[in-house]
Amino acid sequence: MINLKKIQDADLEGKKVLLRLDLDTPVEEGEIIDDSRLESSLETLNLLLTKAQKIIIIGHLGRPEGKDEKFSLKPIAEWFSKHFETELKEINVGDFDAFEIGDKIILLENLRFYKEEEDPSTSSGQEFSKKLSSLADIYVNDAFAVSHRPHASIVGIPKFIPSFAGLRLQKEVEELSKILENPDRPLTIIIGGAKIETKLPLVEKMHFFADYVLVGGEIAEHVRELAKVAHDKLENKKSILLVADLTSDNEDISEVSIQNFIQVINNSKTIVWNGPMGEFEKGFDKGTKEIAKAVANSNAYTIVGGGETIEFCKKEGLLDKFSFVSTGGGAMLEFLSGSKLPGLEAISV
Ligand code: 3PG
Repeated sequence: MINLKKIQDADLEGKKVLLRLDLDTPVEEGEIIDDSRLESSLETLNLLLTKAQKIIIIGHLGRPEGKDEKFSLKPIAEWFSKHFETELKEINVGDFDAFEIGDKIILLENLRFYKEEEDPSTSSGQEFSKKLSSLADIYVNDAFAVSHRPHASIVGIPKFIPSFAGLRLQKEVEELSKILENPDRPLTIIIGGAKIETKLPLVEKMHFFADYVLVGGEIAEHVRELAKVAHDKLENKKSILLVADLTSDNEDISEVSIQNFIQVINNSKTIVWNGPMGEFEKGFDKGTKEIAKAVANSNAYTIVGGGETIEFCKKEGLLDKFSFVSTGGGAMLEFLSGSKLPGLEAISV
């Protein structure tokens, strides 16, 4: 297991701490639809509140192109201010727009409003990382879900100030390492959703590790194409790949695929699931619902992860039926594919 530098070993007394959190939650017209990721940040935040002098929270929301109010972190700042029953003020911290939440917490506006965040290797990216680091004495990464991205707030800051892993991130790594190192087999990985460029390479990598790889959602068509051109490559791998057929409107997976997937699920001892099977937000939720129920009610050790998947399971009242709920979607799959996550490397011994 990767040896992380732990927040428990940091001297936090009276220090200013930059805390990278998973703030990327579903927000519609200023309303937070699912606050699971914010809830999961509270353990580290509460620990810091007892010791640190100031906590500067940093994070992102969505994939804005430049500054776009639709992606403002204001609803997130409001959530924290409500949770801690404190006042909220809009302020500036150096060049950054920010929110002051009570007298101890500051939350900087969406880091993806700055293009440097996503390219820390350039000289302006390095300057950006340095500028962020100069706001604090210590950096804590508690954002597992974005630790697969080599971004300034993930890999840039640890180059400048002492850096540690938060409590939530440690828990993610401990749980997922158990699966990676010694899974109870058959191990089934279910991948759906739409982040094609992130997930497509992972489907291939998972082939070496899992016994079954089930693919549904928007990514299914892309995997089918990949399987056609790389037939031999995929055939020679260890696992059995099942790619769902889609319904005639292409919005969900077919009934036959649902039943095939359920059969595999019922025979598995470990199941990892990320990504919806169809466009559930538009009402095409049958496939996702059936798969969610089958995984949640199976006797296997079950892990579910990713923003949309968690949102769906919570809505269906199934979330507490899984053995472990990971905040990470792409990051969870990337970790389980055996890849080194740049964000974890940056805070390891
Ligand atoms: C996520 O939701 O998986 C993380 O916030 C990462 O988002 P990204 O795929 O836009 O980098």
